[in-house]
Amino acid sequence: MKHSVLVVDDNRVDRNKLANCLSHDYAVHTAADGFEALQKVRDNDIEIVLSDMQMPEMDGIGLLEKIHADNNDIVTILVTGYSSIESAVDAMRKGAYDYLTKPVDVNKLEVTLKNAIDNKKLRSENINLKKKIRENFDPSNLLGYSPKIKDIMDVIERVSATKATSLILGESGTGKELVANVIHYNSDVADGPFVKVNCAALAEGVLESELFGHEKGAFTGAIKMKKGRFELADGGTLFLDEIGDLPMSVQVKLLRVLQESEFERVGGTETIKLNVRIITATNKNLTQLVKEEKFREDLYYRLKVVTIDVPPLRERKEDIPLIADFHLNKFAGIHNKPIKGIASDAMKIIKAYHWPGNIRELMNCLESALVMSLDDEITVSSLPPFLTMLEEEAAEGSFPETLQEMEKRAIISTLNKFGGDKNKTANTLGISLRTLYNKLDQYYPQHV
Ligand SMILES: Nc1ncnc2c1ncn2[C@@H]1O[C@H](COP(=O)(O)OP(=O)(O)OP(=O)(O)O)[C@@H](O)[C@H]1O
Ligand SMILES: [Mg+2]
Repeated sequence: MKHSVLVVDDNRVDRNKLANCLSHDYAVHTAADGFEALQKVRDNDIEIVLSDMQMPEMDGIGLLEKIHADNNDIVTILVTGYSSIESAVDAMRKGAYDYLTKPVDVNKLEVTLKNAIDNKKLRSENINLKKKIRENFDPSNLLGYSPKIKDIMDVIERVSATKATSLILGESGTGKELVANVIHYNSDVADGPFVKVNCAALAEGVLESELFGHEKGAFTGAIKMKKGRFELADGGTLFLDEIGDLPMSVQVKLLRVLQESEFERVGGTETIKLNVRIITATNKNLTQLVKEEKFREDLYYRLKVVTIDVPPLRERKEDIPLIADFHLNKFAGIHNKPIKGIASDAMKIIKAYHWPGNIRELMNCLESALVMSLDDEITVSSLPPFLTMLEEEAAEGSFPETLQEMEKRAIISTLNKFGGDKNKTANTLGISLRTLYNKLDQYYPQHV
């Protein structure tokens, strides 16, 4: 389909000349003055307005101001004589995409229009992307009816409205990163950057310059100045994930940013002021790390102005069906495999399991069940074996075949009995915690 252009000029000859030039590649509309132009914009789906600058009554700038007041999607381009270039520059400040000088060069006109269309596409893609990100991190994506999730939503709502530093705690896969995103995208700085750093993924030496940037020549290989993630997050949120793995040397520097909102780049002397909200997360026990002197106590207190404890999935089993259905539908879309849902006996098994890897583990399990399923719903037979083993054990007359099988069943059913508590499981089975971890590693490498 041709893109639509409205040519506005009070001079009939100029107007027709432009319209003729464009009619091959564009759906062209014309208007003899600003008022007719506004009417045409209202009545037609106009994408680009190409308007003469000097017209009686309403000039080009007046017209574009009126157009942009109603509709920011329309691209405006002004055509001006050499005498009024200054006002064309003024027009660009007021939202015109570009201007052309008279007499209009046909090649220049083509290029300008093509660029304008590309720019419009990019702009709308950008808006769509932003909208999508926001939708993904709308609080409604934090699924659950359990009182624990409701409490978390309450805290998120309160904390989003402030700039308070927040610490998110919880086992692996419980939704810590999701919570951090929801806080950011519901805060006043939602339009600002959301920058994430995984403190465990970077070596100590790299981490400091990654966070705080460096000056040219700060160390071998620092060939030019580089801004750190703190600076990139200015005006938005910095999410420091796996904060329990932050080396002591970097902890000192982080403490200063938290206290004074300022820092220097590595190798630099200039003090940089910042306005960044800091959210941190970890699945480690920070109080324990403080006791072991691996984590600074003063930093710990600075980080936990607001603490959000995301509970493990096994402590909110009532949320499992809702979360499972939601992610199953998403996977069904991704894999283009329509699915009705989860059969009730399969759901019973899913609810009974203790999910040590929490929601992420549940998602992996559902994706694999969906892919393996031969039916239009998830049945017991499509569930991964580690889930169905419990059921088999309960079934009458089923005997384990090997010692290893027996051991596996004993571990899984004891874990389940204690809601995933590894200490109690190891005690009951009469093995050390370390042995239990080794066995879990051996039998269920993906779940530990
Ligand atoms: N309440 C929820 N409802 C729906 N999906 C959720 C919920 N909580 C988490 N998820 C999904 O579970 C997955 C894991 O969440 P996330 O990455 O936030 O966990 P995490 O706690 O940061 O894990 P890790 O400690 O392993 O980094 C994500 O795909 C997330 O969208
Ligand atoms: Mg995470």
